[in-house]
Amino acid sequence: MACILAVESSCDETSVAIVTNRNVLSNVVASQIKLHEQYGGVVPELASRQHLEMVNPCIDKALEESGLLWKDIDAIAATVTPGLVGSLLVGVTAAKTLAMVHNKPFLGVHHLEGHIYASYLSEPSLKPPFICLLVSGGHTSLIHVQDSGIYKTIGSTRDDAAGEAFDKVARLLDLPYPGGPIIDKLAKNGNPQGFKLPEGRISLPNKQGFHPYDSSFSGLKTAMLRLITRLKEENPDFLPVEDLCASFQATVAKALTKRAIRACLDLNVTTIAVGGGVAANSCLRENLQSEAAKHNLKVYFPPLKFCTDNAAMIACAAQEHFRLGRKSSLSIGTTSRMKLEQVPQLYN
Ligand code: KG4
Ligand code: ZN
Repeated sequence: MACILAVESSCDETSVAIVTNRNVLSNVVASQIKLHEQYGGVVPELASRQHLEMVNPCIDKALEESGLLWKDIDAIAATVTPGLVGSLLVGVTAAKTLAMVHNKPFLGVHHLEGHIYASYLSEPSLKPPFICLLVSGGHTSLIHVQDSGIYKTIGSTRDDAAGEAFDKVARLLDLPYPGGPIIDKLAKNGNPQGFKLPEGRISLPNKQGFHPYDSSFSGLKTAMLRLITRLKEENPDFLPVEDLCASFQATVAKALTKRAIRACLDLNVTTIAVGGGVAANSCLRENLQSEAAKHNLKVYFPPLKFCTDNAAMIACAAQEHFRLGRKSSLSIGTTSRMKLEQVPQLYN
C-alpha cells in the first residue's frame, strides 16, 4: 500500500502527515490559534508568514516520527484549494519542491475532500456511497459522496457556517476564540432546554414548505444576541452562560441532524460520515448517533484530533486518488475557492 506525505496550510494550522492504508504514521500540527486569538479571527498576512516559518520543521518532524526515509514515500500531496491563497502557496510550494527533488508524483487535494476522508481514518470499511455532513468554520454542507472523487453538494448554509456561528456566539458571551470547544465544555453543565431558540428553516417558494437540506444560522445568532441583551438588562450581575451554551448547541445539533437524516432517507443512502471542526461537538455526536439509529443508519465520526484541520486527512484523500492511478500536474495553482464537483479537474 502506498505511503503518502501530505502538507496542509489552508488556514491557521501548518500540518504535515504521513499515512499508509488509513494508518497515520505521523501527524504534526503547528497551530496558530494563539497568534490569531487576540484578533478574534484569522489574519491572513500573519497566517502565511507563520506557515513559512513552520513548514520545514513540520516536514522534518513528520518524517522523523514516522521512522521512514524519503525513499519509502510514494507520493507527496498538499491542499491546493479552498483557503487563504498566501497560506496555501506556502504548503503547495514546499510539497511540489519535495516532489521534484525526490522525483515523486504530486497530488493537489481539495481541503473539504480531506474533511470527508477524516472518517476513513477511524473506519477501515467506509466507502462510497454515503452522505457527508461537513461542518467546519467556513462550511456547512451536505454532500452526496457518489464515488471516489465524485461529489454532489445537495445542501449548504445560506449565511453563517456552523463553526462560524459557534465562534460568533462565543464572542457574544465574552468567551475566547475558537468558540466551539469552550461552548461544548460549558454546555456540559447547562440545561439544553433552558431557552427555546429558532432552528432557522429556509422557506421554499410559494409556501411549499421548507428547503430540506439547506441551513441558516444567522437567525439563531440574532436570537442569541437579543436573549443575552435581555438577560443582562434583567440581571446585570448574572448571566446563565452554561444554559445559554447548552441551548444554543442543542439547537444547532438538532438542525444538522434533521437535514442529514432526511438526505439519507430521500436518496436511499444508509451511511453518514461527519467531518470538519464541528464534528468534534459532543451534542452533535450524541444527537446524530441516536436519531440515525432509529432509522437504521450508520454514522461515522473522525477521531477528535482529526476533526479540525490536519494533514492526515489530506494524505488519506490523496491516497485514494493515488490508488486509482491519478496524479496532479506540477503546474496546477492554488485557488481560494473551488467546488467539490470540480475535484476531477485536479488530476490527470
Ligand atoms: O474544520 P476546522 O478546523 O476549520 C475550517 O476548515 O473551517 O473548523 C474550525 C471550527 C471553528 O469554528 C470551531 O469553533 C469549531 O470548528 N469547533 C467546534 C468544536 N471544536 C471546534 N464547534 C463545536 N464544538 C466543538 N467541540
Ligand atoms: Zn478545515
